[in-house]
Amino acid sequence: MRDKQETARQIRVGVIGAGGMGERHARNLTHEVAAAQVVALSDVDAARLGVVAAACGVTHTFTDADELIRHSDVEAVLIAAPDRFHAALTQACLAVGKPVLCEKPLALSAAEARRIVDAEVAGGRRLVQVGLMREYDPAHLRVKQLLDSGALGKVLAFRGVHINGGALSWRTVEDVITNSAVHDLHSARWMMGDEIVRVYASHAPYSADRPDTARLVLIQLHYRGGAVGHIECNMEAGYGYEVDVKLTGERGSAETSSLQSAVVRRDNQRGQWIEQDWLQRFETAYIHEVREWICSLQVGAPTGPSAWDGYASMLVADACIASAKSGQPVDVDIPEMAEMYRRT
Ligand SMILES: NC(=O)c1ccc[n+]([C@@H]2O[C@H](COP(=O)([O-])OP(=O)(O)OC[C@H]3O[C@@H](n4cnc5c(N)ncnc54)[C@H](O)[C@@H]3O)[C@@H](O)[C@H]2O)c1
Repeated sequence: MRDKQETARQIRVGVIGAGGMGERHARNLTHEVAAAQVVALSDVDAARLGVVAAACGVTHTFTDADELIRHSDVEAVLIAAPDRFHAALTQACLAVGKPVLCEKPLALSAAEARRIVDAEVAGGRRLVQVGLMREYDPAHLRVKQLLDSGALGKVLAFRGVHINGGALSWRTVEDVITNSAVHDLHSARWMMGDEIVRVYASHAPYSADRPDTARLVLIQLHYRGGAVGHIECNMEAGYGYEVDVKLTGERGSAETSSLQSAVVRRDNQRGQWIEQDWLQRFETAYIHEVREWICSLQVGAPTGPSAWDGYASMLVADACIASAKSGQPVDVDIPEMAEMYRRT
């Protein structure tokens, strides 16, 4: 499946990070987006860098990401380095006026994300998009469209389930919330079209003597408009990867079906194959994400999840961390967004 975008104005992209996500984005941009060309790639792991650069026919390779950002051949940057580098690399892109698609989370705290928002607003135009890619998942979009059509009436509740097959190592509460649950927190804002005003988060640690770890996090949400919500983020289900949402309105409900595979009946059993990980579950969403990003750059500025969305999701994430640690509900105060972030 290759898109039919006009190739006359190709956008030359530099990708930072050639791990699982960086490779997927680089391959998608190369093979699925006619209007994009990956001209530069950066990774601190030179061997990894060489493998992905060869697979995508990349001309310029760098072990220093800042050199990639500054290179004159690079028009736009995609950041898929580990989370702790996101804020500084995004700021470096803003400093040279280059559009950037930064993987989630935009930063490790709301304060750090706010500094990016402030820098972008000071520049007067949108340059940042954040990889909150569930907005590009067809299953999520079908539910969102139904909700927005008014068919379900006023929406009363959001439910999100995020099941990971297994973590390589025990994860801290902070990491689970900022790295994983941040996707669900964004879905909870975006799909409901309302802001979260209070959260109550609790977690099951990997072991009783490591309460700083979280194998499973439960988050209760309260919305400005009176609706309520609930998110379950399981880091180690041990059987596969699933992400689903259910929205309940006054006149009905709608939910996604995570599983893409056929339903098979055999030997007195009914079964369905479960995706291994996000790369399988969101295969289509990742293609649509970079395709629409490039399309938006061809005609002007990014239109997908913004630095503001990255900031707002981190405000909620910070409140979830504080709640999980204190055992108390925590209020969230999301300020009025700057005009340039309003989506039509
Ligand atoms: N949107 C999604 O669904 C999704 C899914 C998975 C991961 N992610 C995000 O994508 C990012 C990358 O995750 P991943 O799973 O590919 O991790 P990964 O560990 O597979 O890859 C990270 C790569 O970045 C490289 N790297 C480390 N420091 C670097 C630096 N300073 N400059 C350049 N490269 C550097 C590493 O060598 C590695 O190759 C993370 O921020 C993660 O949160 C998003």
